[in-house]
Amino acid sequence: MKQGVFLGDARELNFFVDAGSVALSVWSPPYHVGKQYELDQSFLEWKSLLRRTLAAHAVALKPGGFVAVNIADILCFPDSSMPRLMAENVSRRKRADITRERVVQAMSENPGMNRRQIADLLGCSEQTVDRRLKGNNIRGGKYQTQTRVLLVGGLLEQYAMEAGLYLYDRRVWVKDAAWENSRWHTMSYRAVDEFEYIYIFWKPGQTRVDRNRITKDEWIEWGSRAVWRIPSVRSNDDHEAKFPVELPRRIIQLLSDPGDWVLDPFVGSGTSAVAAAQEERNFIGIDKEPHYVEMANRAWQEARRQIPLLRKTPVAAATACRQSA
Ligand SMILES: C[S@@+](CC[C@H](N)C(=O)[O-])C[C@H]1O[C@@H](n2cnc3c(N)ncnc32)[C@H](O)[C@@H]1O
Repeated sequence: MKQGVFLGDARELNFFVDAGSVALSVWSPPYHVGKQYELDQSFLEWKSLLRRTLAAHAVALKPGGFVAVNIADILCFPDSSMPRLMAENVSRRKRADITRERVVQAMSENPGMNRRQIADLLGCSEQTVDRRLKGNNIRGGKYQTQTRVLLVGGLLEQYAMEAGLYLYDRRVWVKDAAWENSRWHTMSYRAVDEFEYIYIFWKPGQTRVDRNRITKDEWIEWGSRAVWRIPSVRSNDDHEAKFPVELPRRIIQLLSDPGDWVLDPFVGSGTSAVAAAQEERNFIGIDKEPHYVEMANRAWQEARRQIPLLRKTPVAAATACRQSA
């Protein structure tokens, strides 16, 4: 089987990978939150993608191997059957007494006033004036489908079990709080988006447990810890959903040995490829987008070029790892 990053479909990963060969598969699939690369995918299609990809792993993994899936719950899942939650926004009380007729009358009596001045005159917000005039609600409000939280872990657990893979462990990655992405945070009791999960599934078989894969300090700092605090990737300009290299690196160090085959069927920009190269694992990556395949291949080749340098100078190694993290 050939190392590298290939153009393909995660569901068809066995086209690239020999049966029973992969020690560890580490990936982050589309989250069904409207990213560019998942725009044409329905919720049902997304669930089917997860189910079929996990089923394919039952063949690709070697007995005793692992799949580590980094994913988040869907915090804003539209549900048309959900009753309205917000009866009244106390901090911005609705002005039912401001009718369209009152706004139109105030405007005709004060033709020189702008919208802000009309709002002040009526004692309401500019937004209320706008709504009355246009008959709409710029925030969506009552005309928009309500959203709820959708837990994703249970889906993965179900699909993995169907494929004969067992949930072995789960960890929480605490990332940077995404204030600006939280459309709702000023208008509800919901928390901002600031953590994701890593679900680790196991294929039955003999698993080597080697406590020497990481140091004693690493066991204390993160190996035995359920909560991993790792800053998010700062610049997402070349790929909109990268995970930090420290995340796949920890998983690779913990759950595989040098020379093992590591797989990422949703490789994106190639973060896991870089981590695998730095940890001297064999690697296969797959992505459905040609430009990501190219990007990931470049990142992987570059990381491999650095390996002899890393071996020779531990200080340079540490610097290179920090720079890519
Ligand atoms: C969350 S991103 C992964 C990002 C990656 N971990 C990184 O750090 O760059 C998901 C990736 O899966 C790819 N993808 C989506 N559907 C796919 C499919 N059916 N098969 C293969 N890749 C797919 C997308 O193009 C995207 O690059």
